[in-house]
Amino acid sequence: MLLSLAPMEGITGYAFRRVHAEVFGALDRYYTPFISPLPKVGAPFSKRNSRELDPANNQGLNVVPQLLTNDADRFIWAAGLLADMGYREVNLNLGCPSGTVVAKEKGSGLLRNLPRLEAFLADVCGRSPLPVSVKTRIGIANDDEYDELLALFCRCGIAELIVHPRVQKDFYDGAPRQELYGKTLERAPFPVAYNGDTFTLDDFNTLVAAYPQTRHVIIGRGLLANPALAREIRGGGGLTCEELKRFHDKLYESYANDMGGNAVFRMKEWWSYAEHAFADPSSVHRIMRKTRQTDEYEAAARKIFSTEKLAGSPRFS
Ligand SMILES: Cc1cc2nc3c(=O)[nH]c(=O)nc-3n(C[C@H](O)[C@H](O)[C@H](O)COP(=O)(O)O)c2cc1C
Repeated sequence: MLLSLAPMEGITGYAFRRVHAEVFGALDRYYTPFISPLPKVGAPFSKRNSRELDPANNQGLNVVPQLLTNDADRFIWAAGLLADMGYREVNLNLGCPSGTVVAKEKGSGLLRNLPRLEAFLADVCGRSPLPVSVKTRIGIANDDEYDELLALFCRCGIAELIVHPRVQKDFYDGAPRQELYGKTLERAPFPVAYNGDTFTLDDFNTLVAAYPQTRHVIIGRGLLANPALAREIRGGGGLTCEELKRFHDKLYESYANDMGGNAVFRMKEWWSYAEHAFADPSSVHRIMRKTRQTDEYEAAARKIFSTEKLAGSPRFS
């Protein structure tokens, strides 16, 4: 079974990936948050994206860069740069539900116009120097859009399909339509991965019991709330307070080195997920909420780790 970290913009960048692997053991794959905008043909990646992709910052990890674009030439150019850096796969984002992205016909916005999507996908799969995997939602508004979309993917020569079985209009609400993941497993000629609401070992076991052909599960929020979740799925021990603190301290140190005082805002985003590792997430939230300066933040983190108890079974909710 392959277990990977979902891409999460603003959270799962290179520092997070490195520290996660160091403290909890490496996952099978780490998908980068979407890279956008892509460089013009002939130009290098921006400074920020170069740092994210620099092999030196991703050493020893199996990292798959994710691109967000609807421009085939820029995709091919970026895939060439990635191939030169040593990457072995590139992932296309067809899932981002944000209004501004969708309005530009990127992310899940590309699911609105299937003839255009097919032309784009056939072009990039035909010309990309790297195998192209796709992370998709099942449509814009309704489940019944998916039959046609899946048939399209089956014609395009993609390397793997990651299915997050929600429509764009769901954002992250409601239950994932796992039966459409099941349909993908039955029909697809390429490897399939599942993504969506795997928050506990039970969620994972229920998925695999219902769909025993499952071979790859990609986990986002579940791993933020419980960074030991993949280890538990593999039969290892549950999260301890000591290792969560070690993870926190290393992540904070890494952000502080990279961005100084802005590390506090990055860390508070992480806490909005990590608070669910604790028995009383709202108490953790209250302690963290008003911190702005580094000294306030550090005092709040110390208080949480010395007074708050971990949940018996941490779970994002
Ligand atoms: C804050 C945030 C940022 C995200 N950024 C990305 C992204 O850059 N690329 C992407 O494909 N999905 C992104 N996602 C979606 C996740 O990768 C994933 O599909 C979603 O959270 C469902 O999986 P989960 O229930 O395991 O979290 C993001 C989700 C959140 C909440």
